[in-house]
Amino acid sequence: MSVAIQSSWRIGPVEIPTRIVLAPMAGVSVQAFRRQGRRFGAGLVCSEMVSCAGLSHRNERTLGYLRIARDESPLAVQIFGSEPGVMAEAARMVEDAGADIVDINFGCPVRKVTKTGAGATLLEDPGRAGEIVGAVAQAVSVPVTVKMRRGLADGSRDALDVGPRLVEAGASALTLHPRSAKQMYTGVADHSLTAELVERVDVPVVASGDVTSRARAQQLLDETGCAAVMVGRAAQGNPWAVGEIAGAASAEPSREEIVAELVLFMRATVAELGEQRATGFLKKFYGWYLGRGRFPKPFKQELVQLGTLAEVEERLFAAAPAAVLVLDRLEGDLPADEDVVLDLPISIYGGG
Ligand SMILES: Cc1cc2nc3c(=O)[nH]c(=O)nc-3n(C[C@H](O)[C@H](O)[C@H](O)COP(=O)(O)O)c2cc1C
Repeated sequence: MSVAIQSSWRIGPVEIPTRIVLAPMAGVSVQAFRRQGRRFGAGLVCSEMVSCAGLSHRNERTLGYLRIARDESPLAVQIFGSEPGVMAEAARMVEDAGADIVDINFGCPVRKVTKTGAGATLLEDPGRAGEIVGAVAQAVSVPVTVKMRRGLADGSRDALDVGPRLVEAGASALTLHPRSAKQMYTGVADHSLTAELVERVDVPVVASGDVTSRARAQQLLDETGCAAVMVGRAAQGNPWAVGEIAGAASAEPSREEIVAELVLFMRATVAELGEQRATGFLKKFYGWYLGRGRFPKPFKQELVQLGTLAEVEERLFAAAPAAVLVLDRLEGDLPADEDVVLDLPISIYGGG
């Protein structure tokens, strides 16, 4: 029987209202991105990977990743590292900050991370990987999950052997991005491995990689037996992709909707990161929002050149004046800020 995208499922006691998970993406998955993803139909959202060493050292910028809002829930915060004790300490901080799930990164292929023995390299050290999961699961009462690649080398099937061991060690769900670390983002995700992993474990498996449409999402649910699909790059500057997969929005927004969502995202990002950091952070989003043939190329280049975000807003509204009305409606529907921010004041975040 076919699983409906709009149906709930569970990771341990955490109920997740839809089968869509918004992917953790470093440099992308800020709170504004996660809240937008929830609004468009993601059932679960994830923080980008957070360094357990940074948390352990109380690094201000790292602590800022623990800024969590009530309306993001259910939310997974992802940590990476290689020392079980430090990971356990980081997991406790994540739980205290209000995350519903602690996710562990065994997938990052980037050398800066793998050379420290963290990320995807742990797929070749199943003993240590199991120790990390065990230590983290012991340390917190929320569910612990793991996100993996298929292995380090092309054609590797390591995730299929490591996965069941991680479940034994205490993982309540697994996400598989079935590309090798070496592949980075080239080639295609081989979801026949996802189906094999589903056969080998008795916890929910989330399929990550190349989910770009509702048709593909449903096909993966049907053919692999995965509990949910994860959407990453397709959602960059494109919440309508999440909406289309959820069955709730057209994949083709109007110019007014695009400008309104972008401005809302800009304002939320400024509130989160401070104006200075947000100005640089946002530049890549202009291309993502305005590309895909939606606005002429020179327009994006023009925005990137502008010195202040106020000028960017002005230029955007000049290109689509009725976006002001759409933005008013969107802002009116948002929960009040004092209702949503838990624990950490913005000043901690802006200080890094
Ligand atoms: C810019 C970028 C940053 C990413 N950062 C993370 C991360 O912090 N943690 C993680 O587990 N995966 C990360 N990923 C991998 C994604 O979560 C996802 O597994 C991958 O992009 C495949 O899915 P997609 O085809 O839907 O993009 C990142 C991917 C991208 C493109």
